[in-house]
Amino acid sequence: MTAEFSNKGVVVTGAAKGVGAAVAEAFCREGARVALIDVDVAAGSELARTLGPRAHFFQADVSSAAQVDQALQQADQTLGGFHILVNNAGIQTYGTVTETSEEVWDRTLGVNLKSAFLCAKAALPVIQREGGGVVINMASVQSFLSQHNVAAYTTSKTALLGLTRSIAVDYAPKVRCVAVCPGTIDTPMLHWAIQQSPDPQEVLEECKQMHPLGRIATPQEIAELVLFLSSDRAGFITGQYYRIDGGLGISVAGSKRA
Ligand SMILES: NC(=O)c1ccc[n+]([C@@H]2O[C@H](COP(=O)([O-])OP(=O)(O)OC[C@H]3O[C@@H](n4cnc5c(N)ncnc54)[C@H](O)[C@@H]3O)[C@@H](O)[C@H]2O)c1
Repeated sequence: MTAEFSNKGVVVTGAAKGVGAAVAEAFCREGARVALIDVDVAAGSELARTLGPRAHFFQADVSSAAQVDQALQQADQTLGGFHILVNNAGIQTYGTVTETSEEVWDRTLGVNLKSAFLCAKAALPVIQREGGGVVINMASVQSFLSQHNVAAYTTSKTALLGLTRSIAVDYAPKVRCVAVCPGTIDTPMLHWAIQQSPDPQEVLEECKQMHPLGRIATPQEIAELVLFLSSDRAGFITGQYYRIDGGLGISVAGSKRA
């Protein structure tokens, strides 16, 4: 059987760890040529080495236009063109509006939102030149629901849905654009976040119980949805968001089993 993405080039941001690493690995498994983009040079180059000759690492801070342009140009040359962009890089920051400094606001919106604009701006001409393709934006359940103290994060994830619609409308029919909205995922980001609390184990347990399925997601489960939405099997899907959240947000807050 031919691998589903064997004739495709794919760019994944935030690909050194967590969800991005699982996405890069899944595309490689399905035969794609993959550019891994990240600020973490050590983890990114090591992962590209273990994924084999189809994987290439490029260093970039995706909130910088100059670095994005350079990395995507290198990716285009090295991969021989690409068709799929996965805007996955993101950071979690905490604070209410009054607690959030301008610096944290700008950094959060820069890495989580402006990055998707910059990467799409650099990638869309390549994707169009190659005959069309797909842009996937990694949003969150926090595009719809907000916990306390995440003013900048939840704003960035909500705005990504607007960017998704805008790209979908402007670049149809050759380019589709879809947002993925996960619940809690077992990644370094989550482990960093729960370490901010005095009892990380308790917070992890609470996270699991918030999801009606009673657990958090694996990065691989998110990667499988990204693969499906990037494939021709999802060829009539554009401008939409897909929640992959173990049911988080469908139950009435505080409701208990009978
Ligand atoms: N983990 C969760 O529970 C969860 C839930 C919903 C959505 N998400 C979203 O999924 C995406 C991936 O999250 P994760 O949990 O794998 O995070 P992670 O922190 O585990 O990994 C993120 C990767 O992005 C890279 N990165 C950070 N800033 C960057 C920058 N400026 N330029 C380039 N690379 C950068 C990091 O080096 C890291 O390799 C994020 O957009 C996040 O908001 C995560």
